[in-house]
Amino acid sequence: MPKGGHPIVAHGFEIFDQPPGRSIQEAVAEVPNDGLINCRGWFYNDQLLVTDPKTIAEVLVHKCYDFEKPAKARNFLARVLGEGLVLVEGDEHRFQRKHIMPAFSFRHIKDLYPLFWSKALEFNEVVAAAMHEDAEKAGGEQAPGSSGIIEMKHYANKVTMDIIGVAGLGRNINSLHNPDDELMKNFEEITEPTFEQVIYFAAYITFPTWLVENLPLRIARRQKITAANVRNIGRDFVKEKKGLIKSQSDNHKDILSVLIKSNDFSDDQLVDQALTFLAAGHETTSSALTWTSYLLATHPSIQSGLRAELRAAIPSLTSPPADLAATLESLPLLNAVCNEVLRLYPTVPVTMRNTVRTTLLGGVTVPAGTRIAIAPWAINRSPHLWGPDACVFRPDRWIDKATGQANNHGGAASNYSNMTFLHGPRSCIGQSFAKAELRALVAAFVSAFEIEMEDPSYVPMPAGVVTVKPRDGLRLRLTGLDGW
Ligand code: HEM
Repeated sequence: MPKGGHPIVAHGFEIFDQPPGRSIQEAVAEVPNDGLINCRGWFYNDQLLVTDPKTIAEVLVHKCYDFEKPAKARNFLARVLGEGLVLVEGDEHRFQRKHIMPAFSFRHIKDLYPLFWSKALEFNEVVAAAMHEDAEKAGGEQAPGSSGIIEMKHYANKVTMDIIGVAGLGRNINSLHNPDDELMKNFEEITEPTFEQVIYFAAYITFPTWLVENLPLRIARRQKITAANVRNIGRDFVKEKKGLIKSQSDNHKDILSVLIKSNDFSDDQLVDQALTFLAAGHETTSSALTWTSYLLATHPSIQSGLRAELRAAIPSLTSPPADLAATLESLPLLNAVCNEVLRLYPTVPVTMRNTVRTTLLGGVTVPAGTRIAIAPWAINRSPHLWGPDACVFRPDRWIDKATGQANNHGGAASNYSNMTFLHGPRSCIGQSFAKAELRALVAAFVSAFEIEMEDPSYVPMPAGVVTVKPRDGLRLRLTGLDGW
């Protein structure tokens, strides 16, 4: 049991820490344990934290279906996502996962690289325009090579939304060029990591739903409106797509089309899946891209090393190598940087499960209804698993000294030491998609701009309810390179 805690709720509130997972990280590093720590949670209920590869593997792989996401947290998200793959449990989950898996095949992801690349170049163009505009405002010129300030998180959200729009729904949402895009505006409001959102989420999972949803609060009203807006947009997408599949030749390869053509899902279920992919597939990678630019801005020598590697492999962004997928997947520093960012800033810092039946965990009998905390943030930064420099940004841990090639373990002894995408049947189905997308976006961005912090003393605070992003945004000074 970790020291301290509130007299009534003990360590229950700590899952709402900002940065999320901070005190769990301290517990994992400091409390002696055999794979389980008891952090008593809400009103003295037991709440177990899994801390080592053995107990993590039990929860995520060997006994995965003995654990479910807590009903209240599921209901909170279901207002927007419905009963999509992220939120269903048991047999329904097995069924959906099996039928959605083909849309994430190895081949399918390779085929998506040209899309990732063309959107990455569009992103560069939009960011360059914002940078030039800022340069002019500051008295400079709107010319290639100028320097200006941009807020990264906003643009990262847009490009990842546009990518999942095409790859997930076969639809050009085009939020990069459309500042008034309704879907984007609603999603940004829902996921904005404000203090108000965190408190509302805490209230939602603590008190009766009818009470919290009807509180005379602005946020309760706005949440209802934005959730309804997003669902209406999702319904229109599905209707249109079904019409297109009927009326046009069978060349639709996006995830939604694969699901429609399988005939395994009702219209309502298709809306749930469409919104699930939009939400799970854009905010997460957007956060990863934002944290990458922060870490590169604050580690200039790694940034210039990466740029040199990219220049040698892709001398012209507009004529990339024919096998772009193979090129990007083979670059040691690019892959090392992406892996290290995903390790240090896992987009989903903490997730929870409840035991649905009495089960054995780490040799201990755990009764049904026990809360289990799984904390990628804490595991990925554990000195017991990653060494004393666990919290340091060190991409070279992902490069084999002997061969100079990328490795996929980062020097950790077990793959359960890296929890960014979890493991097992409930792991992130979009893992390869997200990594491929991140590689392409980072490669194009770093090739085109020198990245610095607007204020070198500013340290962004990781914050959010489900995913972590810099709470107050990330303002970068960019300088265009090579004609940008
Ligand atoms: C850096 C990017 C991403 C990260 C770090 C990430 C992380 C995660 C994590 C930790 C989970 C498990 C959540 C839990 O069980 O509590 C998850 C599930 C999921 N993710 Fe991702 N994700 C990323 C990108 C994506 C993308 C691009 C897609 C879709 C294209 C996606 C789709 C999903 C879906 C559908 C699930 C639910 C899987 C299931 O329960 O069977 N994710 N993700």
